[in-house]
Amino acid sequence: MSVDELYRPGLEGIPAAKSSISFIDGKQGILEYRGIRIEELAEKSSFLETAYLLIWGELPSNQELKDFEHDIRYHRRIKYRIRDMMKCFPESGHPMDSLQASAAALGLFYSKRALDDPIYIRNAVVRLLAKIPTMVAAFQLMRKGNDPVQPCDDLDYAANFLYMLSEREPDELAARVFDVCLTLHAEHSMNASTFSAMVTASTLTDPYAVIASAVGTLGGPLHGGANEEVIEMLETIGSPENAAAYVDDCVVKKKKIMGFGHRVYKVKDPRATILQELAEQLFDKFGGDRYYDIAVELERHVENRLGGKGIYANVDFYSGLVYRKLGIPTDLFTPLFAIARVAGWLAHWKEQLEENRIFRPTQIYVGERERVYTHLFER
Ligand code: SDX
Repeated sequence: MSVDELYRPGLEGIPAAKSSISFIDGKQGILEYRGIRIEELAEKSSFLETAYLLIWGELPSNQELKDFEHDIRYHRRIKYRIRDMMKCFPESGHPMDSLQASAAALGLFYSKRALDDPIYIRNAVVRLLAKIPTMVAAFQLMRKGNDPVQPCDDLDYAANFLYMLSEREPDELAARVFDVCLTLHAEHSMNASTFSAMVTASTLTDPYAVIASAVGTLGGPLHGGANEEVIEMLETIGSPENAAAYVDDCVVKKKKIMGFGHRVYKVKDPRATILQELAEQLFDKFGGDRYYDIAVELERHVENRLGGKGIYANVDFYSGLVYRKLGIPTDLFTPLFAIARVAGWLAHWKEQLEENRIFRPTQIYVGERERVYTHLFER
């Protein structure tokens, strides 16, 4: 086939790797992590157990999980120099930019590279999974003018993050729901930020640079940034009665409706279904959210108008409603996505190193050739 025949904008449908980490059937709405259905993991597993499964390929034994949880628990603190660096960040800066900068800064403290050493790999996995939540929470407190809250070693992964945001121990249901959200967002095959991580990993740079690349990619509104845009969209719509007109307007103007559509899923994203259930659990206990009524009505109209094109709710549509009920500020929604997706990015980083070849695609050159240089005085 010629390069013209091979070319696909956005590499749509082009396999970029062979992977055994996650499987998606976009027509059936199936998502499996290492062959286990996401619904089972959401119900029966925890985020850290799921992260272990994604990265090392098997569910951990009781002792392996205890050791992993212990190591993560005792690596949550960040160097004071990183905190001091973050104090110089403008309060108006977006938390995703703060996270990208601080994730890259981690590499300054762990500059020794040993990519063929399983101990080095495990240490990098532990440090990144343990410290990323602390850096997200630290920026949140500091941009409000407060000192960051030190991690609470008595709390598990999800509860500790919520604690570091508020300095209060979270409600048990809130912590459990947040842990499930992390599991749901942990991995999703060859998405843009994972592909970005793999391209960076393929040059054999350090894992901190790999994660910083992926964080930068996730932040865009067409990818992980959509969860924040969905809340702003619901605010704009204002009431369920306005949902139909909003959809019609977007269709006429060919404007993308945030939280809908997916390169792979052509039915409702299975993660959206679970997130909707989690939101309803929180509403039952803590009271409703008027944005939810708008969201349900909007989803109904989008399905009516665009379902025929395979456009349905994706993971970003209901996640923001869960986070709102957990009291999390809207511009932290994408950093929450990043905290979870560190597991998937690290899984693909490790898999890439096992059979690495630097990514260097080709192009179809459409520019001019052999032009003559014209001197400045001639232009
Ligand atoms: C995530 O890849 C992953 O796995 C990502 C993710 C993960 O876990 O990592 O699942 C997380 O990024 C979820 C997606 C979050 N983004 C959004 O919700 C933003 C809104 N969605 C769209 O931008 C879009 O659906 C994408 C980017 C998600 C997918 O876009 P594609 O596959 O490139 O589809 P496309 O832009 O080529 O659209 C195909 C058609 C077009 O219509 P036609 O020109 O053929 O008439 O579908 C239409 C589009 O206009 N369309 C939409 C739409 N998404 C696609 N129309 C209205 N609203 C939308 N949201």
